[in-house]
Amino acid sequence: MTEPRVSPIDARATGCPFAPAPDLRAARQDEELRRIKVPSPLLGAFDAVLVTRYEDAKAVLGSGGLRMGGGMPHQEGNLLSYDGPEHTRLRRLLTGSFTTRRARELRPRIEDIVSSTLDDLAAAGPGADLVRLFCTPIPTLVICELLGVPYTDRDEFQRRTKAVVDVNTSREVQLEKTAEMEAYMAQLVARHRQQPGDNVLGRLVREHGDELTDRELVGIGSMLLIAGHETIANTLAASVALLFQHPDQLAVVRDDPEAVDGAVEELLRYVAPATILPRQAAETLCVRDQKINEGERVVVSALAANRDLTGTDPDQDLDRLDVRRRANRHHLTFGYGPHQCLGQQLARVELRVALPALFTRFPALRPAVPQDEIDYRTNALVFGVNSLPVTW
Ligand code: HEM
Repeated sequence: MTEPRVSPIDARATGCPFAPAPDLRAARQDEELRRIKVPSPLLGAFDAVLVTRYEDAKAVLGSGGLRMGGGMPHQEGNLLSYDGPEHTRLRRLLTGSFTTRRARELRPRIEDIVSSTLDDLAAAGPGADLVRLFCTPIPTLVICELLGVPYTDRDEFQRRTKAVVDVNTSREVQLEKTAEMEAYMAQLVARHRQQPGDNVLGRLVREHGDELTDRELVGIGSMLLIAGHETIANTLAASVALLFQHPDQLAVVRDDPEAVDGAVEELLRYVAPATILPRQAAETLCVRDQKINEGERVVVSALAANRDLTGTDPDQDLDRLDVRRRANRHHLTFGYGPHQCLGQQLARVELRVALPALFTRFPALRPAVPQDEIDYRTNALVFGVNSLPVTW
């Protein structure tokens, strides 16, 4: 058995944060699945089987033989806390609110949100931090729409959300703000119980109110806030930083509306912000004739799998960003199998609206610091950018 080596948490190449670290690439070439040590704030370090090949990732994530395995305490209402029939029951109640059609219906509101966020960026002037003024407010305001947060509460909601999801917030303040957020969510649920609005929470109360407890509804609200927030904010920021490195491809996103959907898919494939997808084997599994024993932890690297050439057109260079790529298979940025991202259609619409709008409004947008000084967020569960000062 190979000695534990790679830490997938910071498995991005030094100086080139969009690329998998050489060791992670090497793991993909190995015939034998690697066992590695994964650092975890909750579990200390744990041993896990590292999955880096595209087909292996689909096989394990799609198999019924795994349960969620991040070591997080159970959170009521949070889909990532459930497995099997309990997960299916809860997820089924939510899928109707996250269809492609629903995401499309939200587009006009998303366009308004993006447009007013761009006004705020313009008002702040050159040197403004794109993460703080553009990438973070957009998903927060979209979640306000989804949850039916009244306009009068939005400033406060945004301030609290920022503290809850900001990696730089101290643990103490984070706990305090999380408690405040849950108390607010409980009020929101009570309001929807009385008068269900035309949004995700309102719909859940109207259609499934007697199947869900208030605690589950509060948990669902908190899950949507967290799951739909950091991922989008970081994907937006990382996509902009990546396009700054490729001005010709930035021009495609800005100038060719027909190319935007494909470009967003390619950016998602390339950025792969969710660093690892953690699981635990509920039974002994076989992957390419190799055993993963019952109880063993498994971590899947979407970053490595998204660049795995096996089974693709051999002429493709998956290490290259190509916003005009005609993808011949799907990426794993939104995961795969029963826990595949519920908000992916919404995420796509947010990115498809926000990126071209940003580059059209500021055609000369560029970083206000040298490219190699951009503060990338590595070594975190969600890869991205901490701050991105821009000028135009
Ligand atoms: C670019 C943006 C996003 C990315 C990259 C992303 C990525 C992911 C990934 C990889 C998973 C699966 C995790 C696993 O299998 O361990 C997931 C699950 C999930 N995502 Fe997203 N996500 C994004 C945006 C959103 C948005 C906008 C929402 C909702 C507002 C959302 C809600 C969820 C939920 C509820 C789950 C749990 C699904 C389940 O366990 O059944 N995500 N996401």
